[in-house]
Formats: sequence, structure tokens, C-alpha cells
Amino acid sequence: MVKQARVIGVGSYVPERVLTNAALEAMVDTSDEWITTRTGMKERRIAHENEFTSDMGYEAAVRALKDANISANDVDFILVATLTPDYVFPSTACLLQHRLGAEKAAALDIQAACTGYIYALSLAKGMIVSGLYKNILIVAAEKLSSIVNYKDRNTCVLFGDGAAACVVSADKTEKSLLIRETCLGADGSLADLLILPAGGARSPASIDTVREELHFLKMEGKEVFKHAVRRMEAASLECMKRIGLSEQDIRWLVPHQANIRIIEAIAKRFDLPIEKVYVTIHKYGNTSASSLGIALDELLREKSVDKGDNLLLAAFGAGLTWGAALLTRESLYE
Ligand code: ACO
Repeated sequence: MVKQARVIGVGSYVPERVLTNAALEAMVDTSDEWITTRTGMKERRIAHENEFTSDMGYEAAVRALKDANISANDVDFILVATLTPDYVFPSTACLLQHRLGAEKAAALDIQAACTGYIYALSLAKGMIVSGLYKNILIVAAEKLSSIVNYKDRNTCVLFGDGAAACVVSADKTEKSLLIRETCLGADGSLADLLILPAGGARSPASIDTVREELHFLKMEGKEVFKHAVRRMEAASLECMKRIGLSEQDIRWLVPHQANIRIIEAIAKRFDLPIEKVYVTIHKYGNTSASSLGIALDELLREKSVDKGDNLLLAAFGAGLTWGAALLTRESLYE
């Protein structure tokens, strides 16, 4: 029998510290009115100085394992999606493997920027369907405040810190979500649109890179915006087409939370009422790889998702990368 992959537990974590639009007004030349109307953001969370990506990922992972009703010892593989790992190496996945006590698990970081959660879901599905593994822990965690320039109004209002996790398993449970399809894409010719210029092998840290502020993320916001809408729409349509669904079959759209205008543009193109779109952007801003996972966790806790309901996840990010995933609530008793 062909194996199938399911999300059997979810969790998320955001730091306590809140950075409001009013606080940003005191830091750069901006206004609550500009940020709210141009992005939909009201506040975001910022990790403490001694709170790192692996710490936030750990909290989300513990919650996802509890929700899935499995222990760290049952995990075969840990996939961590992040563009702000604790270190370039060793991987944040290895740090988590040790901290969780997941002694049987292999561990790997993946880097697909804001699309990381969907890339991880797709990899996990492949690893389970192939029969290689049974339980895969996905963690998406970001300390974006460590690479944001709080003197640059073009970017500093947009990003926040946080983490999400889920367990993908071959087992069906009372509340599992079947990963029916995933669809991924990338275009490296647009790498310069959103980039952390220094700190890699091409431009290692030096007095000059620090002086030129090359350790902060740089973004061509307007260009990224255009690609975001087109790419998320195309990936979502392809994903639905492959399994014979249309926009009318979607109960919830859970998009990457980068800009409310991007989210509204996608909803409009799909003729989806905004009530069917799960939005957290006003509370957390853009938390990159974790944003979609945080939204999915909150949706499953706060709204009813019934048997047969279809959830469409869509994201895009630096690379450029993009992707969509279609999950369906199944029943244990059928
Ligand atoms: N406060 C006040 N004014 C501002 C601010 C601010 N915080 N930021 C920019 N402005 C100004 C600009 O300087 C510009 O002024 P000018 O006309 O005098 O030059 C004006 O506002 C308009 O700037 P635009 O960049 O054209 O504004 P836009 O409407 O495009 O909004 C934004 C900018 C919010 C960045 C938008 O382009 C966007 O959301 N882009 C997508 C970003 C994104 O989705 N990234 C996701 C990937 S993230 C990842 O992978 C990590």
C-alpha cells in the first residue's frame, strides 16, 4: 500500500517582548499610519538578547510533540527551516536534537527563507512516502531581529521573531491533516532582491563589512511584492490542479504573513472572502519561515477545522523561492 504523510501535531512560540508601531516611530522616521496602511502590521515580537533561534524552536517543538502525543525518542528526523541559525555551523537542527533528547533522530537545516515551512513539509512528505522514515519533526524558527537594521525604515518595521513546529508522520490520528500535495519553485536570478550581503564565504566578516552595514538584510520591497503575488498564485493553482481541486474547495487559506496587501491580492485573485484567510500579521509582522507555521498553529487552536476541510498554504521568500501545500482534515474512522 502506498504510504501517506500527515501533520499529526503543531505548536508555536513567540517571545514576550512586544515592539509596537509607536515604539518604531521613536526609532526611525515612520508612522503608525504608514505601517498599518502599507503593511497591515501593528506590532511584532522581539526575542531577548540571550534568547536565540534554537531556544524559540525548542519551545515550539515541545508543544508540537505534545500535540502529536509522541516523545522526542519517537522522532526519526529533525528538519529546521531558518535563515537565522544560531551558527553557520553546526546546524540548529543538531542543537535541537541534543536539547530535545531525540537520540534516534538525524538532523538537518534547510534554507529556503520564508518558504522554508512549505519546503520542509514537501521534503518530509517525500521521506515518509518513500518509506525511509516514520516521524519527522519540522521546526521553523527565526531571530530576524539579529539581522535587521533598526536604523533602516524600509525594513525594520516589517520583521519579528518567533517559531513554529509540526510533526509529520506516516500514522493517521484523530485529527491528522493529510498532506495531499505540495508544489515548490525557485528563481536564483533574483537572488539580489532580498539578501544578507556579508557573513558568508563570499564576503566574510571584516571591519569594512561591518562599517558598510553588510550584515543586515537588504530588500527591494516593491520588486519582491510583485513576484510574491504572482508566484504564490501560480504555485497554489498548480497544487490544486494536480489533485483536481478549485478555489471554491478551499476552507482556509493560510498564507505567508509578509504584507496584508499581498494577502488581500491573493484572496481577490482566488475570489476567496477574507474571512477564509487566516491572518496574524497585525500581531507578529513577518517572521519569515515561521510565519505560516505560527498562523497554522493558531488556526487549528482557535477555529474549527472539520473532516474534509481543505487548507491551502502558500509562501514565497528570498532566493527567490515559493511554494504551496494542500492539507485535508481526515477522519480516523473511515
Ligand atoms: N515609514 C514611512 N515611509 C516609508 C517606510 C516606513 N517604514 N518605508 C518606506 N517608506 C517610504 C519610502 O522611502 C518611499 O518614499 P519615497 O516615495 O519618498 O521614496 C515610500 O515610502 C514608498 O516606498 P515603497 O517601497 O514604494 O513602498 P511600498 O508600498 O512598496 O511598501 C513594502 C514597501 C511594505 C516593503 C512592500 O513593498 C512590501 O511589503 N514588499 C514585499 C516585502 C516582502 O514580502 N518580503 C517577503 C519576503 S521576506 C523573506 O524572505 C525574509
